[in-house]
Amino acid sequence: MERTLIGNLRQAIGQKVKVQGFLHVLRDQKKMQFLVLRDTTGMVQVAHYRPANEDLANQISALTPESALTIFGTVVDNPIVKLGGLEIQLESLLVNNLAEAPLPLDPTAETLPSIDYRMDWRYLDLRRRQSLTLFQVETAVEMAMREYWVQNGFIEIQSPKIMGAPSESGAELFEIKYFEGKAYLAQSPQFYKQMAMAAGFDRVFEIGPVFRADPSFTSRHMTEFTGIDMEMSWIDSHDDVMSFQERWLQYIYKRVKETHGEAIQEYFGVDLVVPEVPFPRLTMAEAYAILKDQNYALPPEKKGDIDPGGERLLGQYVKEKYGNDFVFIIDWPIAVRPFYHMRHEDNPGLTKSFDLLGSGLEITTGAQREHRYDILLRQAEEKGLHAEPIQDYLNFFRYGCPPHGGFGLGLARLMMVMLNLPNIREAVYLFRGPNRLTP
Ligand code: 4AD
Ligand code: MG
Repeated sequence: MERTLIGNLRQAIGQKVKVQGFLHVLRDQKKMQFLVLRDTTGMVQVAHYRPANEDLANQISALTPESALTIFGTVVDNPIVKLGGLEIQLESLLVNNLAEAPLPLDPTAETLPSIDYRMDWRYLDLRRRQSLTLFQVETAVEMAMREYWVQNGFIEIQSPKIMGAPSESGAELFEIKYFEGKAYLAQSPQFYKQMAMAAGFDRVFEIGPVFRADPSFTSRHMTEFTGIDMEMSWIDSHDDVMSFQERWLQYIYKRVKETHGEAIQEYFGVDLVVPEVPFPRLTMAEAYAILKDQNYALPPEKKGDIDPGGERLLGQYVKEKYGNDFVFIIDWPIAVRPFYHMRHEDNPGLTKSFDLLGSGLEITTGAQREHRYDILLRQAEEKGLHAEPIQDYLNFFRYGCPPHGGFGLGLARLMMVMLNLPNIREAVYLFRGPNRLTP
């Protein structure tokens, strides 16, 4: 017999069905026994009249919460049942896996234990409807990203994550043993997505793992995360990258709202707003002036940069002034940007780069890249990088390479912004941090 998903039971009224899921609740009463069964599409009440079958009644009484069950029964219309106005009259039951009791984490509980404890028991934590919804939304997000890219002539690449040289600055780098020698884990697909520009692919994207040996314990940093990267050729400036990104994001929000808007409202209390384009743009100088105006003092070591508190304030400012959750901060000083960012012709102290903040959180860094070999080499040396270890990268720019730019976006950070989550640990399947390698 084929499985019927709980969400499709209304079409099966009067029929015999097989339903499979977790035992959400058991109400074992004197005459009646009620089981609430849960699958990814919903919950259903299953009823059994005790005297009808004593063996079955005993089997039900022995069930523990969250056991994995297969049930057989007949679907009946019953308007007084709160769960969808129907129930299943139980005929037989198969226990696929009896859950041990007590549960270390009860996914049906109203109050949640600490986030750290939840991560220890993540597979139980993920049974909560809110967690499930998050990953359904994330699936829709990635699908919408791909739809928009493919409609716009992008090619998907998968670049290696094991590298012979650092892929960004050399900071936050994981070194690994590689046979007799050593290797590094990719800090981004930066170099290889640029290689695709030298390869004449015009436009590429990659969704893949990114590794950062960042020892910080914040609500927005992980040592491994999913990076969303794209790169496009024949641009005039970083402005072309930003206008692509804002329309791409608008499309993602639109698609997600269509398919998951109601669930997002129900499980996250968020009324998803499709952002208006263009997003406001603030130069770094303007951002500093706004922060100064609000008496926000950046820590001195953050010279030329913005810290999380400053980002939050700017997010609030833009929300109030322009009604947008998103803002591009542009024209970052070279001191806080990598060597491969292109510089302004008329102001070589500034890069043609941007960060995108969503609700005051950095979700993207992007830029036009320097595609001219001599200048790139000079910029690398200026930053104290030796040409030799990155010569393979530098060679991409020796035999014809179009002007190009792109960005990197952290998937979990986008989910935080979209669903208004306070901590990145909520927004990722399994968190990886300096002291978290399990489960
Ligand atoms: O800002 P990042 O470091 O920029 C790059 O990797 C460049 N190669 C991008 C480019 O095309 N110029 O990383 C990109 C994004 C960040 O904006 C942030 O959303 C996310 O990746 N990110 C992290 N997410 C979680 N944990 C971390 N430790 C992160 N570091 C960066
Ligand atoms: Mg950044």
